[in-house]
Amino acid sequence: WPYYLAALAFGYLLGSIPFGLILTRAAGHGDIRKIGSGNIGTTNVLRTGSKKLAAATLLGDALKGTAAVLVAGHFYGAEMALIAGLGAFLGHLFPVWLKFRGGKGVATYIGILLGLYWPMALIFCAIWIGMALAFRYSSLSALTASLVTPAALYFGFGHIQTGEMFVLLSLLLWIKHHENIRRLVRGQESKIGQKSKAPP
Ligand code: G3P
Repeated sequence: WPYYLAALAFGYLLGSIPFGLILTRAAGHGDIRKIGSGNIGTTNVLRTGSKKLAAATLLGDALKGTAAVLVAGHFYGAEMALIAGLGAFLGHLFPVWLKFRGGKGVATYIGILLGLYWPMALIFCAIWIGMALAFRYSSLSALTASLVTPAALYFGFGHIQTGEMFVLLSLLLWIKHHENIRRLVRGQESKIGQKSKAPP
């Protein structure tokens, strides 16, 4: 088990780097947690008006998940890749540096998928884009794609362990989106790029 713990801790450390917070602050936009929804992720970084910053946040938050999976997998095999992926997700959602108040996990979820089974990451993105074009809600797009992902991994592609882990990741993602879900139900969720959403 020391290896499991080491893989989990390694993933956690990588995952806990809050790219949205660091990049927006470095670019002179102040604290992203005081803008829009208060979230540190790509969707909210877009509310600063900077598409470049949003793209960089997406890349950073995704690739830290990919890196955790690939590095652990390279040295210690497939099972450790899964554990490091889980660690990265937990690190992004609950970073010790931000008093455990991290992001909602969408970019990191995609990055972990990319490292574990890249075709599913492409499918996730395709669903996200399709839903976003149809309804223009970032949260709804991610919630839908994250419902499909574990089922497709498990039943569609026969990736049993990965599918099981993504049940957990999707559950955490949904829990982290509880305020978005409430706003969606009430018709109060802001659309992609819209700046008006008040902090929760
Ligand atoms: O799934 C998208 C999620 O990140 C929504 O972010 O800032 O609208 O709560 P936000």
